[in-house]
Amino acid sequence: MIEQINEAVDFIRRKTSFLPRTGIILGTGLGQLINKVKIEAQIPYADIPQFPVSTVESHSGHLIFGWLSDKPVVVMQGRFHYYEGYNMKQVTFPVRVLKKLGILRLFISNAAGALNPDHRLGDLMVLNDHINLFPENPLWGQNLDEFGPRFPDMFEPYDRQLLKQTLYVADTLNIKVHQGVYAGVPGPNLETPAEYRYLRTIGADAVGMSTIPENIVARHMNLPVMAISVLTDLCMPGYLEPVSIEKVLAAAAGAEPKLTSIITELTAQLND
Ligand code: HPA
Repeated sequence: MIEQINEAVDFIRRKTSFLPRTGIILGTGLGQLINKVKIEAQIPYADIPQFPVSTVESHSGHLIFGWLSDKPVVVMQGRFHYYEGYNMKQVTFPVRVLKKLGILRLFISNAAGALNPDHRLGDLMVLNDHINLFPENPLWGQNLDEFGPRFPDMFEPYDRQLLKQTLYVADTLNIKVHQGVYAGVPGPNLETPAEYRYLRTIGADAVGMSTIPENIVARHMNLPVMAISVLTDLCMPGYLEPVSIEKVLAAAAGAEPKLTSIITELTAQLND
């Protein structure tokens, strides 16, 4: 595993010497942030040795290095989902690579279903915690001691300072942002009405099929994480209706400018 990571890092280093300080993973239907990035280098996932290749059409699959708000970032345009058939080590492989490339923090976006009755379609929710319902853990097996401990602490899965700063930025931009708990499920099917009720009962405010694996691996490496969900469908009793990927993408597109503004401004406020 370490050798695979090093191979990918070495390849990327031969393509660019750009030193990113913030890693950004863009979720389903949330690729527009890239238009704000002054691009220095762009590498297709397919070219990077050991990198999985994205299979979802709504993800174009590039690692993009450049300047966002004059800060050095690396953006994952497209992520790897467990439901695509990758194992969790593959899903989270890029996060290990980004850390080795020098990032000091990780921002994650995703599309999620809303479970909290106070939330509305197209609202944003910053994650303050999560509930991991994936059947496989990216840290299973031999521990990579050079990256982190065998039993990583999850007291603060989402960085409090970044969370506070995100809420502050949203406020100054006049954008409503909730905070709440994200439940991560394997997918790819959406949930049944009883499952949505169950997820609400166990304390989730939103549900999605990503983010938690990347978060766990980032936290294993003590990387601070900020994650934000775009709420693309309403999953509360009385609001349920059939969900399609088209509806999810349409809702994501509608809310995307808000997300882009927040991440752009949050990045502007970083010190490195
Ligand atoms: N459930 C799971 N994942 C999702 C949903 C949902 O309702 N909406 C967007 N991603």
